[in-house]
Amino acid sequence: MKYIRYVYSLQEENFYQLLTEYTKGVEILNRKGDKVIFAVYEKLGHLEPLQVQEVHTKHPKSYLRTTRIKDFLIVPYGIKTIFINPGMAFGTGLHASTQICLLLIDEFFKKGWTAIDVGCGSGILSIVLKKCGAKQVLAIDIDEFAVKECKKNAKANNTPIKCIKAKPQDIKGNFDFLCANLEMDIFRKEMEHIKRLFKKRAVFSGIYGKDELDEFLQMLKDFSVVKIKKLKGWFGLVVER
Ligand SMILES: C[S@@+](CC[C@H](N)C(=O)[O-])C[C@H]1O[C@@H](n2cnc3c(N)ncnc32)[C@H](O)[C@@H]1O
Repeated sequence: MKYIRYVYSLQEENFYQLLTEYTKGVEILNRKGDKVIFAVYEKLGHLEPLQVQEVHTKHPKSYLRTTRIKDFLIVPYGIKTIFINPGMAFGTGLHASTQICLLLIDEFFKKGWTAIDVGCGSGILSIVLKKCGAKQVLAIDIDEFAVKECKKNAKANNTPIKCIKAKPQDIKGNFDFLCANLEMDIFRKEMEHIKRLFKKRAVFSGIYGKDELDEFLQMLKDFSVVKIKKLKGWFGLVVER
């Protein structure tokens, strides 16, 4: 994160007068004679700064740590927690292709959008979408065990999601956002149906290696590719209409 730091100098008396009125943080840097050199993180309208500095810091979230002690998990505020019991479905969040989706959803999904999760497995991506403020999420999978687990996990996370056993071609209508973490063979068969299910952006994952990526980009040549992400040999990407 970037902040602008303003360094000022004031007579001691004036400085303490300022402190009685200024309710935000003030950093005292030095004292020279009866002068106090100090810094604040906004411009003080009536004063001329000695220096204006750009300060780069880590986001406060990067200092937050979760701690596990036996069956207790202590989670700081600001972290979105997702409870997953995958049962017989894919989607614990440990696989690189799922992690790519999570990173891309975090960056490219917009609060208030509707979304479809094609091949929901445990429902992990649907739950994340709902936690990111999706207006409505439809989760589909061809595997009845996945549908069952997805429904259970949605309930455990208190995230209302419609989950049905279906293939992309069974779905009428379309959604602002789509995510599909599938396999290349499935994309080859289903892409024509998948494509018509989103209006704005889509995240695709489950593409392994450069050859699959090249083939995949050919399939999506009608769209603009906004980002390509690689993790442990797996690729995921975001496209827009
Ligand atoms: C790799 S898992 C992804 C699970 C979860 N979305 C994740 O990201 O961890 C792919 C899922 O797609 C489902 N699937 C396979 N073919 C499908 C199809 N044609 N239509 C819908 N779902 C399909 C599988 O049953 C499986 O649950």
